[in-house]
Amino acid sequence: MSKSILILPGDGIGQEVTTSMVEVLNFLIEKYCLDFVVNTMSVGGTAYNEYGTPLPIKVLEKAKESDAILFGAVGGTEWDHLDWDDRPENALLSLRKELNLFANLRPAFLFNELSEASPLKKEIINDLDILIVRELTGGIYFGEPRGIISNESPKYAFNTMIYNEDEIRRIAKVAFESAQKRNGRLCSVEKANVLEVSKFWRSILTEISKDYPDVELSHQLADNAAMQLVLDPNQFDVIVASNLFGDILSDIAATLTGSIGMLPSASLDSSLKGMYEPCHGSAPDIAGQDLANPIAMIASLSMALKYSLGQEHVSDKIDMAISSFIKKGYRTKDIAIDENYLKTSEVANKLITTIENE
Ligand code: IPM
Ligand code: MG
Repeated sequence: MSKSILILPGDGIGQEVTTSMVEVLNFLIEKYCLDFVVNTMSVGGTAYNEYGTPLPIKVLEKAKESDAILFGAVGGTEWDHLDWDDRPENALLSLRKELNLFANLRPAFLFNELSEASPLKKEIINDLDILIVRELTGGIYFGEPRGIISNESPKYAFNTMIYNEDEIRRIAKVAFESAQKRNGRLCSVEKANVLEVSKFWRSILTEISKDYPDVELSHQLADNAAMQLVLDPNQFDVIVASNLFGDILSDIAATLTGSIGMLPSASLDSSLKGMYEPCHGSAPDIAGQDLANPIAMIASLSMALKYSLGQEHVSDKIDMAISSFIKKGYRTKDIAIDENYLKTSEVANKLITTIENE
């Protein structure tokens, strides 16, 4: 049965990196006779300009019926003045929530050839390979009640950090299973020294660990985990965290690799349908200049092929081509050490040639 893919390029460099990814996708569809139906639609600020909303209903509906969504990036100064409901970022949060994409997988790995780009010393960062599993549809991002009260004095604002046991169990299961497939170590991050919701989170994680005797579970407080990620990142294999802590830690982890333009991510529901996006944002400062690194987007396609589209073998081809691209010394501007770098539009072809000649 054919699988459906929805491409949402979005704003800024989202457009250019998606164009490169589509070149690779079209090549793979032809070479491996993949039975995919591919649609492309607008999202974010681009959709707001066209339809007056960052997430038109027809886009949401198409997203719901698709097996995999390839999402570029959203946002830009042009839309910063808008109310939250109209802002490009709201499209992202609504898609996550409406599609129940509770499991966010954010790998942070280093190609040792790029260790110069890392802000950390080589001996600390070499061989880095971490997976952050971030809860994506709950916690303080979506907790009710929330609000800003302006008609009282003093004015105040509040949010609610809330998790029920089912939400914690399902993300814990994804994290333990990921650790089983990797090096068998899982570190759960929270603030159990202060927050009730974190104490509860820790107790559920501890309880579930009994079902995974082959995984070594540890706990770290979020502030300490942030420090440990910088001091000794290789102590981690899989990290699991709530929506807010996972957001923060995944930015630190991505930065350690020195090349946020290389890192993909997956957001999955319980049936492994998912949305795939690069970790970088829309980068308005370089948008439209053919300077962006499309590898994170292309690596996101690889994750989609692996998790949602049943094509692990084809996914491996992309990963191999990316690895060979780096080893051959090809660079994009973000990871270049001199003026010798490829334009965005030159990358896909290099990867395609590698797969063809394999
Ligand atoms: C991310 C981003 C989003 C988040 C923003 C853009 C709403 O930082 O995907 O990490 O906070 O989840
Ligand atoms: Mg973030």
